[in-house]
Amino acid sequence: MLKKIALSAVVLASSLLASGEVNVYSSRHYDTDKELYKMFEKKTGIHVNVIQAKADALIKRMESEGDKSPADVLITVDAARIFKAQEKSLFQSINSKYLVENIPAKLRDKDNRWFAVTKRARIVAVKKGVQAPVYYEDLAKPEYKGQIMVRSSSNVYNQSLMAAVIAHKGVEKATAWAKGIVANMARNPKGSDRDQARAVAAGLGSMAIMNTYYMGKLANGSASDKDVVTKLKVIFPKFKNGGTHVNVSAAGVAKYSKNKENAIKFIEFLASKDAQSIFAKGNYEYPVVKGAEISPLVKSWGTFTEDDISINKLGENNAAAVKALDVAGWR
Ligand SMILES: [Fe+2]
Repeated sequence: MLKKIALSAVVLASSLLASGEVNVYSSRHYDTDKELYKMFEKKTGIHVNVIQAKADALIKRMESEGDKSPADVLITVDAARIFKAQEKSLFQSINSKYLVENIPAKLRDKDNRWFAVTKRARIVAVKKGVQAPVYYEDLAKPEYKGQIMVRSSSNVYNQSLMAAVIAHKGVEKATAWAKGIVANMARNPKGSDRDQARAVAAGLGSMAIMNTYYMGKLANGSASDKDVVTKLKVIFPKFKNGGTHVNVSAAGVAKYSKNKENAIKFIEFLASKDAQSIFAKGNYEYPVVKGAEISPLVKSWGTFTEDDISINKLGENNAAAVKALDVAGWR
């Protein structure tokens, strides 16, 4: 008898819990996010369960789980992956006045299947005293031979940059540009964005192509990484007919979400001014909504004009970008 009562109490407790939770599949890997999840739990009483893995693994998992998938929200760190999840019909359209009114159209899906929640620029960290490039186009010029540090083309940040080059110039000119970059590489691509900056500071090459927040992480990292940053200057290159390339972290509500209302609340929370300031200050990213504060360090790098290519376009061009990078010999 006692056992039976205990069991039904467990069933009751777990059903209460089920109405108050949101299951998040996230490929973000930053400490700020844990802080945000705690804030959301405190504010709403909705418990956040997180499964963190690379986007491709999460996408595969959602595909194989099908309508049994426990995922309510999928978060990726890149335009191409959010587009891939969309193409595989892993999201559903949602109604959110707040998200539509506060996130610019180029940073969200036109059918409201996903929304960018943070931005990052792909910049060049230049060794102090070196003539800095003004345009992305400049990076392919012979005058920069042996000077460029950049990671592999298997990295999705480079693929999205290439997708933007294709959007501006077409495949042929974009391939020629990538060949120019390959000719200017200081070494065969290896390591992370941060490793490129470290290599420049160590005297290999004179400029690193990387995402902005990694400069923030270096500046707040180990003593040797802090030293790396003192040797570099952040440059925001732009396209000759556009602005500085920006990529996003984006979130969408899973097609088979069992906690849809909670999932919407969760994404609205990530796009709230408070949460946006935490992303921006804690992880050195740029907010997607107006009025959120940014980190003083990020502010010190100066302002830039964002490129106007939509995130959707970057996703659409991903396959062409991967192919063109391969043709160009960017390993
Ligand atoms: Fe990253």
